[in-house]
Amino acid sequence: MRKAKKVCLADLAKVGPGTPAGQWFRRYWMVAGTTRDLYDIPEAVRLLGEDLVLFRDSNGKIGLVGQSCPHRGTSLEYGDIEDDGIRCPYHGWLFNIHGQCLDMPGEPKSSKFAAKVKHLAYPVKELGGLIFAYMGPHQDNPPPLPKYKALADPTGQRSLEATRVYDYNWFNFIENGADPVHFSTLHRADANDGTWRSWFFDFHDVPPFDAVETTYGMKVISRKPGPAPDTEYADVKSFALPSILQIGDTEFTHFKQPKEALAEGSSNAHFMFLAPNDDEHFTLYTVNHYTGPDPEFFQKLAPSRALERRRKNRMTGASMRLFGAASALRILPAKVRSR
Ligand code: FES
Repeated sequence: MRKAKKVCLADLAKVGPGTPAGQWFRRYWMVAGTTRDLYDIPEAVRLLGEDLVLFRDSNGKIGLVGQSCPHRGTSLEYGDIEDDGIRCPYHGWLFNIHGQCLDMPGEPKSSKFAAKVKHLAYPVKELGGLIFAYMGPHQDNPPPLPKYKALADPTGQRSLEATRVYDYNWFNFIENGADPVHFSTLHRADANDGTWRSWFFDFHDVPPFDAVETTYGMKVISRKPGPAPDTEYADVKSFALPSILQIGDTEFTHFKQPKEALAEGSSNAHFMFLAPNDDEHFTLYTVNHYTGPDPEFFQKLAPSRALERRRKNRMTGASMRLFGAASALRILPAKVRSR
């Protein structure tokens, strides 16, 4: 009997085709782009170590195909968009969103050769402004795309932040998000600035936390005493494997607010969909979903988000690698504990 190859922690960082983590990622829908950024020209995309081209044909259908034309390797990033697909700029082969070649202008009119050429293509779906791709097995019958609440909920308001690309390995970012203690240290604010953040994540009074396994991954719950007896504040981070983080108020709603604002909790969820481009780069798509009553919630928040972005931009590459995750804030009765 053949022995199974041992997989070690270091394998998690490698996502190319045929690698253990690459096969794992290919069992999930990955974000390949955004509806907002997909114009009427093809977009080169690197995802899980594969060079691809995302496009929307003139009929509005979205396709994700191999970047190199199967004829002579020309980049389809420079292809022409047509009603039925994308046409290679070199000899004009036309491919639909399924990778099927539909036309070869250089062939005799009677030729049936085009029907025999099938280019690499992956199924895609749009949800809440994000474009997801499935790159795994059984592409004729892929698993359903999860209805992530932040993307699928028709109520509330949604905001999609600027797409960010980072030049380090995806796992550094994810495992940092599961580490709440570093937030009270590396990201500690002036202890006397009066904000909820410096109180909750006090360097000298680090909130205790639990890591709780869930069906989709893990939650990390940090706690501090609440405003009334038998209550406590719970700061919750959720991790949906392999690469989605739901974090919130530390970086967002309550970033600069006074401690008293904690009593209202939060109506905003802050989701990060991480897509590894390869072993040295990943792209972060950040979605905020607000379900509270304020119709101008995101407009009011814009100044503090601009401040936060400027602060992040000043960070060096090394400290950026360590930039921490925050969480969604809730007040829980003390007796309702996750375990
Ligand atoms: S290289 Fe694309 S059609 Fe020839």
